Amino acid sequence: MSLYTENFHQADISNCSFLITGGAGFIGSNIVEYLVQHGAGEVRILDNLSEGKLENIANFVELPNVQFLELDITNESDCQSACANIDYVSHQAALGSVPRSIETPLLTNAANVTGFLNLMTAAKDAGAKRFVYASSSSVYGDSPEMPKVESRVGDPLSPYAASKYTNEVYAGTFERCYGLETVGLRYFNVYGPRQKPDGPYAAVIPLFMDALLENKAPFINGDGEQSRDFTFVSNAVQANIRGMFANTPGASARAYNVAVGERATVNQLFETLKGLTGATVDAVYRDPRDGDVKHSLADISLAQEYLDYQPCTRFEEGLEITLDWFRKRFGNGSVKP
Ligand SMILES: NC(=O)c1ccc[n+]([C@@H]2O[C@H](COP(=O)([O-])OP(=O)(O)OC[C@H]3O[C@@H](n4cnc5c(N)ncnc54)[C@H](O)[C@@H]3O)[C@@H](O)[C@H]2O)c1
Repeated sequence: MSLYTENFHQADISNCSFLITGGAGFIGSNIVEYLVQHGAGEVRILDNLSEGKLENIANFVELPNVQFLELDITNESDCQSACANIDYVSHQAALGSVPRSIETPLLTNAANVTGFLNLMTAAKDAGAKRFVYASSSSVYGDSPEMPKVESRVGDPLSPYAASKYTNEVYAGTFERCYGLETVGLRYFNVYGPRQKPDGPYAAVIPLFMDALLENKAPFINGDGEQSRDFTFVSNAVQANIRGMFANTPGASARAYNVAVGERATVNQLFETLKGLTGATVDAVYRDPRDGDVKHSLADISLAQEYLDYQPCTRFEEGLEITLDWFRKRFGNGSVKP
């Protein structure tokens, strides 16, 4: 069953064109799924497939109103051609991962800052109606305040965080200089179907699921008492769609927390998944990672006020849906002793 039966927009989108960058990746392909399911006029997907996979969009690219462009946002003319005649942009393409950015800050900057600027410039040149983009809870950096409120950020703890913060500064500047309407979305630990469990920079939930379905012990960085506002992907999709169409005065030129407003520790996550999978292994604890924040919890009232955002899938339900997808996708349906 599709995750996207609920409507997050009121407008008629059958005459609208959408560009989803990073659309072959995890969150981007879920946004594509929503748009296709709700009868969007034209959906253009841009991805360089460095992290994304064609199989994430295989069901959609066969449709006559969906086009896949294997292009790179670090290339200015790629961005210009992708944005031509586009009404709404949802910009998800970036190099994720705090540790990767600490290892290769120039690569992160090229995709996340230069690429961002190329794409936003192209969207402005194309006269796009709104530019919605993925920011990150990492912009809160070393601020100890809880819950996180949009107006109070700390100092960035990684090049990745600096890149996302820079995006927000540029987005506000483009609205002031050129009138391009922008909406930033500070995602808090998004998880769900199509998130990759493989590769050196995989996120904690797919890593745990992959290990526990094989009854293998996953690693926990630090003591496991760090907490996160784990956010199911349909909530991130909802924020993107609402961000495109929100017409409350003052809704644009802001960045919003996109989360549930509840938190769980990594130890709680592990125990919940252990129960859901029936695994019998214990986790292996190792050193904490550089650049990681200890606790993260969002105040989501700004997104509720301006975007009419209401998270509809909570922690355990989201984990069950994701596990179900993992079992079907990777064929490891039962825990092996
Ligand atoms: N998943 C999370 O928890 C989370 C949290 C905060 C922010 N974000 C942000 O959300 C966005 C989507 O993240 P995701 O989890 O879906 O990651 P993802 O890696 O699955 O998706 C990103 C996509 O961008 C593509 N890409 C990377 N560099 C590119 C380039 N130069 N040109 C064209 N395409 C390029 C990749 O191939 C990939 O398909 C990213 O901007 C990420 O920084 C994600």
